[in-house]
Amino acid sequence: MKLHDERRDYEQAQLRREQLPANPMALFAEWFAQAQEQANLPDPTAFTLATVGADQQPHQRIVLLKQIDDGGFVFFTNYQSQKGQDLAANPLASMHFAWLSLERQVKIEGRVEQLEPAQSASYFASRPRGSQLGALVSQQSKPISSRDELEARYHHLSADYDGRDIPKPEHWGGYRVIPTLFEFWQGGRYRLHDRFSYQRSDTSWQITRLQP
Ligand SMILES: Cc1cc2nc3c(=O)[nH]c(=O)nc-3n(C[C@H](O)[C@H](O)[C@H](O)COP(=O)(O)O)c2cc1C
Repeated sequence: MKLHDERRDYEQAQLRREQLPANPMALFAEWFAQAQEQANLPDPTAFTLATVGADQQPHQRIVLLKQIDDGGFVFFTNYQSQKGQDLAANPLASMHFAWLSLERQVKIEGRVEQLEPAQSASYFASRPRGSQLGALVSQQSKPISSRDELEARYHHLSADYDGRDIPKPEHWGGYRVIPTLFEFWQGGRYRLHDRFSYQRSDTSWQITRLQP
């Protein structure tokens, strides 16, 4: 494996203090729209979610951003999964979007809360039937002896619910990350990347340029 020659220059764009809106949500929306427009960027809504549970061990995984509302960033999952257990013990998370073809990354940190069950149910009802069944079948993050067992469970439940709506399982729903910190990173010439953090203070955001 040759790793040391894997490098490239970052020269596509610049991020300057005078370009920054007062509200980081506005910059996130602008960058997100550009990520969505990039044909070569698969899954622009995918982000890495880092959590730390009671044992202090950080855990990360990719999830999909499904809603942005006034309060924050919403994703859906199984509340009994590893991430669900971590968040029950310590409701803080870090989100990371890697939009590498744009030479950008965004980090968001904040407090996490569960969505109202009615809101989760409404999103669950909008999902394809196969995904609804999958949520019902999988005891996410728990061991299972074989794929056959999982598929058997799927077909069994599929037959059970034939012709009927599939209710949202109680252990499945949304989380909202309420941001307290953003960092926007734009790759720059000579490895002098542009980094700006937005730190929430009472009613506004404090903007700081960080060294690369
Ligand atoms: C592109 C992609 C999108 C994913 N989206 C989700 C998601 O929205 N919700 C989810 O629970 N898991 C999603 N997963 C699976 C998670 O990465 C992870 O395997 C699962 O949630 C269990 O994580 P945990 O054991 O740390 O709780 C996705 C995986 C990938 C690669």
